[in-house]
Amino acid sequence: MPVRGRIIWVAGPAVRAEGMMGARMYETVYVGEEKLIGEIIKLTGDVAFIQVYENTSGLRPGEPVYGTGQPLTVALGPGLIGSIYDGVQRPLVSIAKAVGSFIKRGVHVPPIPLDKKWLFKPTVKKGQKVSAGDTLGIVEETPLIQHKVIVPPNSKGGEIVEIVDEGEYTVEETIAIVKTNIGEEQLKMYHRWPVRQPRPFRERLDPVVPLITGQRVLDTLFPMAKGGTGCIPGAFGTGKTVTLHQLAKWSDAKVILHIGCGERGNEESEILIKFPEMTDPYSGRPLMERTILIANTSNMPVAAREASIYTGVTIAEYYRDMGYDVLLVADSTSRWAEALREISGRLEELPAEEGYPSYLSSRLAEFYERAGRVKTLGNPERVGSVTIVGAVSPPGGDFTEPVTTHTLRFVRVFWALDPNLAYSRHYPAINWIQSYSAYVETVSRWWEENVDKEWFKLRHEFYQILRREDELLEIVRLLGPEALPDDEKLILDVARMIREGFLQQSAYDEVDSVCKPEKQVKMLKLYVKFYKLAAHALERGVQLKDIRAMKIIAELIRSKSTIPNERLELFNELEKKMEEEFRQLMVTVSSGVTVGGR
Ligand SMILES: Nc1ncnc2c1ncn2[C@@H]1O[C@H](COP(=O)(O)OP(=O)(O)OP(=O)(O)O)[C@@H](O)[C@H]1O
Ligand SMILES: [Mg+2]
Repeated sequence: MPVRGRIIWVAGPAVRAEGMMGARMYETVYVGEEKLIGEIIKLTGDVAFIQVYENTSGLRPGEPVYGTGQPLTVALGPGLIGSIYDGVQRPLVSIAKAVGSFIKRGVHVPPIPLDKKWLFKPTVKKGQKVSAGDTLGIVEETPLIQHKVIVPPNSKGGEIVEIVDEGEYTVEETIAIVKTNIGEEQLKMYHRWPVRQPRPFRERLDPVVPLITGQRVLDTLFPMAKGGTGCIPGAFGTGKTVTLHQLAKWSDAKVILHIGCGERGNEESEILIKFPEMTDPYSGRPLMERTILIANTSNMPVAAREASIYTGVTIAEYYRDMGYDVLLVADSTSRWAEALREISGRLEELPAEEGYPSYLSSRLAEFYERAGRVKTLGNPERVGSVTIVGAVSPPGGDFTEPVTTHTLRFVRVFWALDPNLAYSRHYPAINWIQSYSAYVETVSRWWEENVDKEWFKLRHEFYQILRREDELLEIVRLLGPEALPDDEKLILDVARMIREGFLQQSAYDEVDSVCKPEKQVKMLKLYVKFYKLAAHALERGVQLKDIRAMKIIAELIRSKSTIPNERLELFNELEKKMEEEFRQLMVTVSSGVTVGGR
């Protein structure tokens, strides 16, 4: 490794080195005698500014800086799933094994195991022409993930002159030789890819398939699309982490990337302990068989936090390229932005709003732009997606601060956490008036073809009740509840039922933690029907107090946790009971003396 230059200045994670002629922007360098990993983030003349991904204490001016000629890359191949990495893809568990502590400086451990043998099954033959993205063969990476070994996107492609037989190989062994127009290329089961460069694909597709999360307020009111982008901003303790965990656990994505970004060490280690213990609810297998964790706690080097989201999204794109739906969640992008701010400050750049660098917004845009549902490169034809959801932790819960406002410009789903709801223990504390999803119309066809042909209309009627409640509550605040006529009081009653029985969903309730689409629609229908029958009954002279006293109400509200996803026929019984109780109310009225004049 050539010595490129010498350190002249060290300030926290930032290092300045001179004599760096020939160095390139975003080149990976090794800093100091200990060879700490760093990246050049600014070059003026022969002076380079380097952000160092490891703790720099003890580093001194005069120590050498080694160049690699390469940008910061990640290794992509079998062995990623189930790993726990820091922000520059250093495996935390293996490092712990190698050096006997959590993470030590200057330790270079391969990100994926180099000596493990994988059973590789070729899917191409000698003489066949291949190009970038083509599948060469498959490896069972975990019982849940079939890893497709593909021709790297930057490969020239050409004719296969050699392909190994089915058998066990390590990722370092050559499994195919391709004759390109400039020579022979040896392909292995892994390749490297620069983290700051989006991986190419053939074509971007419309976000028409919902990402089912099993969370009613999300799927029904503010749906996420596969390949979509969303953010979940919320004040301290309002439920960002729990919601992201619910997504990681229940979403119908094939691969999950969880980036823990600068949260408190204990919260992060809780994840590192909790995730490996969780099981995938769909297969009963360990959740880690489809999950990759990237962890950067607040006590880890700040620059690695900056890199972590690029590392994460590049790995996500790699699984997308195999034709899988990938969900990436980042908790929290505010801590990532703070890392950006800290490094920018060390470089003495001119700060913009609240000390953040002026490029905060373009960096956020670049990150979220890497989401998408795409037709991948290569054969056989595949469609894959990367969905990105970022938590945002605005100081004091103020959504007008820079990270929240810039993020909102680039994401299409906004799940707004509301401290008032959280205080009153309404979980998930997602405010249904403030939140929005730009995918409601694009995913409605999927719902209508796969779950219920009236989904869009039902959802609209349902949401209208909540919006009307919001308007009416304003009047109540001004004039008191008695100012409203009975039909409007009924709206308040039904909205309260919906809030309790539908919007609230406990992550800790065995039955209610996940609500499948079919169950969501059954519930949606029952609430809309209840409202219609009740409004009709009122019109026919039934007293509001009699409607309020109906036995079915409590049963309806409880149904979220009394009727499991596998027993949906019980909703039909509930519906019959409800109709029957209304019929009796009507009978009482029409046979009674005071019919109310209608
Ligand atoms: N869906 C839910 N079901 C049940 N309880 C919930 C739910 N969401 C949040 N909570 C409750 O709220 C608490 C705080 O949630 P969480 O830790 O996710 O907040 P946070 O926004 O990530 O906080 P911080 O700002 O500290 O990171 C949880 O410990 C849990 O008790
Ligand atoms: Mg949290």
